[in-house]
Amino acid sequence: MIKQIIFLFFCVSLSYNLVAQERDYINLQRDWKFKLGETASAALPEFDDSAWEEVDIPHDWAISGPFELEGNGSTAKLPWKGIGWYRKEFNIVEEAKGKRVHIIFDGVMAFPEVYINGQLVGKWDYGYNSFYFDITDFLNVDGSNLLAVKADTRQHDSRWYPGAGIYRKVRLLVTNPVYVEIWGNHVHTPIIKPHYAEVTISSSVKNSSNSDQKVTVIQSVYSPNNNKLSEDTISYELAANTAKKFERTLAVHAPSLWSIESPTLYSAKSTVYVNGEVSDELNTSFGIRSIRFTADDGFYLNDKRVQLKGVNLHHGHGPLGAAFYPRAMERQLQIMKDMGVNAIRNSHNVAAPELLEMCDKMGLLFFNEVFDKYDAKADILDTTNFENFAHRNIRNFVMRDRNHPSVFLWSVGNEIGDVQWNINNGFDRLHTMVNYVKKYDPFRPVTLVNDQMESAKLRHFRYYDVHSWNYGQRYRIARKLEPDMSVVISESASTLSTRGFYEFPLPDKKTDFTKSLQVSSYDLNAPWWAEIADDDFMWQQDEAYIAGEFVWTGFDYLGEPTPYDNQSVKEMGMTDKEASRSSYFGAVDLVGLPKDRFYLYKSYWVPNVNTIHILPHWNWPERVGKNVPVFVYTNGDEAELFLNDKSLGKRAKNPMSENSTERFRLMWKNVTYEPGTLKVIAYKNGVKIGEETLSTTKEVSQLKLTVDRKTITADGLDLAYVTVEGLDENGNTHPLAMNRVKLKLTGNAEIAGVGNGNPQSFEPFQANYVDLFYGKAVVIIKSRYKSGKAKLTASAEGLKLDSVTIQIE
Ligand code: GAL
Repeated sequence: MIKQIIFLFFCVSLSYNLVAQERDYINLQRDWKFKLGETASAALPEFDDSAWEEVDIPHDWAISGPFELEGNGSTAKLPWKGIGWYRKEFNIVEEAKGKRVHIIFDGVMAFPEVYINGQLVGKWDYGYNSFYFDITDFLNVDGSNLLAVKADTRQHDSRWYPGAGIYRKVRLLVTNPVYVEIWGNHVHTPIIKPHYAEVTISSSVKNSSNSDQKVTVIQSVYSPNNNKLSEDTISYELAANTAKKFERTLAVHAPSLWSIESPTLYSAKSTVYVNGEVSDELNTSFGIRSIRFTADDGFYLNDKRVQLKGVNLHHGHGPLGAAFYPRAMERQLQIMKDMGVNAIRNSHNVAAPELLEMCDKMGLLFFNEVFDKYDAKADILDTTNFENFAHRNIRNFVMRDRNHPSVFLWSVGNEIGDVQWNINNGFDRLHTMVNYVKKYDPFRPVTLVNDQMESAKLRHFRYYDVHSWNYGQRYRIARKLEPDMSVVISESASTLSTRGFYEFPLPDKKTDFTKSLQVSSYDLNAPWWAEIADDDFMWQQDEAYIAGEFVWTGFDYLGEPTPYDNQSVKEMGMTDKEASRSSYFGAVDLVGLPKDRFYLYKSYWVPNVNTIHILPHWNWPERVGKNVPVFVYTNGDEAELFLNDKSLGKRAKNPMSENSTERFRLMWKNVTYEPGTLKVIAYKNGVKIGEETLSTTKEVSQLKLTVDRKTITADGLDLAYVTVEGLDENGNTHPLAMNRVKLKLTGNAEIAGVGNGNPQSFEPFQANYVDLFYGKAVVIIKSRYKSGKAKLTASAEGLKLDSVTIQIE
């Protein structure tokens, strides 16, 4: 029988009491101490940290601001550069003797140094990657231990807000001396037929003891409802302090394939025996599915063509910064799925592991990217040994993620200029990166994401499997030179808009921007290098070899506020102070509220769901008698517009038009504004599919709170998102309401963040107030560790207040 052990981890206020399995993961989430700035002796156990701030992980030290108004908008004007120290005390009881203990970090921004009991355990560099150390020999078993982590972002470079500190989870892994190494399992499916599949399970087992061991591994496959389908046994003599792969290939009859519509997951169980006793047991979730890119017909999943309807997502979560809360991620994905998305690209860095787990479960394909550039943005410094860096970082990235069925493509980097042009041994470095990916996963295609169209003539595509190009049909030269490779539009659109904001007249050119510091939401603006959404739809309709697109971006993100970055505002005669702090690229805003563009994508990507969306709003007191163009985004092919019951005529989409907007939108470009009611009736193939009405509202007179989930978990991580709206007396959202809303929260929860999607707002993300922006704002409530109720009340001068109660379990 396996000896059951008990570990006790004591913290200032809490003790963990875990009945251990063969392997135990212990989440180090609570009761950390934090201090900003370099602090001598902070790693020493005897150091007095009583005056330090108490924090929980995940933690982003810079998101609470304050904003540096004259600072760099490209990284959000937030104070993320610096050094931060974290300390955490924990106890291990005597039963831990003879065990191996590893510490696993999912991401620390940046250049972390990890100390146990004053001794340096190890260092890492790349702030987005996961890494681990074996800390067994540093621990006081049966005593108190002090973990200290230094994070230093001073040498990190970024083109957006990167966050700072221990922003993803940290765990201890406790095992017996003979165990499956971290990310040491590799499951793949060499044969997939309708009636039969082969599953290969390979476990890298380590004998960390000082004596040779006879090790037996039983590899087994379990069905989605947890029935054992098959198993096989394998034994080896494992010499002291060595590791070896224990691999078996098993059959699954009549497999249920993993797909977008039905993301079926199987489980591989690897049980490790030493002397007849279980030494370790590991379950690995996997899917059975085939993927392939074809030369002329795009991407196939399970032998069926799938057009990739993808979005790029940065790692941040708006008002929460880089701090990774699983619920924030899940909500992002749910909103994206609702828009019709079937694929995600993690632009441009290693994602939180939970994101891949969610994609597996939700049926989203995943374009898995490791770096943006090979320089300080990837924490590669002049002094870095590239070969060593590449190997370590690609190893962790690929080994951690290779069992996820959602992953269909690896990317070794985004827009790396000298690699595309073969400068500074660019092709050698590309080759190195690709080879390391193939070393740890020979089964999936690899790509490099390009932007320098002419560089294709140097034929860097010889080193990878799929043409991936950003914007402006830049894939053309590469595709001509190598027509046997499919094309992915790795970044499309980069259309710009501010939720709720409209400017007149409509722009003549996509790059017409005004000094308003906001971008009109008619979805006709993009930077010079990019295009509007409709252009990408059109190119894909016309060219079947294009596997699909990844829109830049699904959500707005902190930083990169094109066209109102510092340099651009200065060119427009303004100062640094005017530069914005977050992007305009999202189909939804920084807090997850859909912009008009959300409905443009939905109308095209989800043709079987009726979408009828009218823009702009209908509150234009200063434009009575003037032109206010009206657009309708619908999956219908035709619609009729009525203003105060008078028909303004029918419009139909023109699928043959060379002007892309005419293919995908219905536009009434000349509508003389009068207040009242704007109604649209939409048709598909001559049949009415629905109607939608927009009315001029009365004055804003009341607040309305809507919570996304009424019950959340008391785990210090779970979130409830409350949308705050300003309404008129008839309950219509007032599209111009900008009121300041005071927030009062009582009970067992806290306000984790507030925001409204205004890229020009420099109000703090952590506050007990929020400003409505074009009628709306969002409050993010986080649970504590206690169950009960929490009540949020929102009030504003002159408005009827509202409140909402959340159950915490
Ligand atoms: C791309 C780049 C992205 C983002 C985007 C904005 O060239 O890869 O990271 O900067 O432009 O349009």
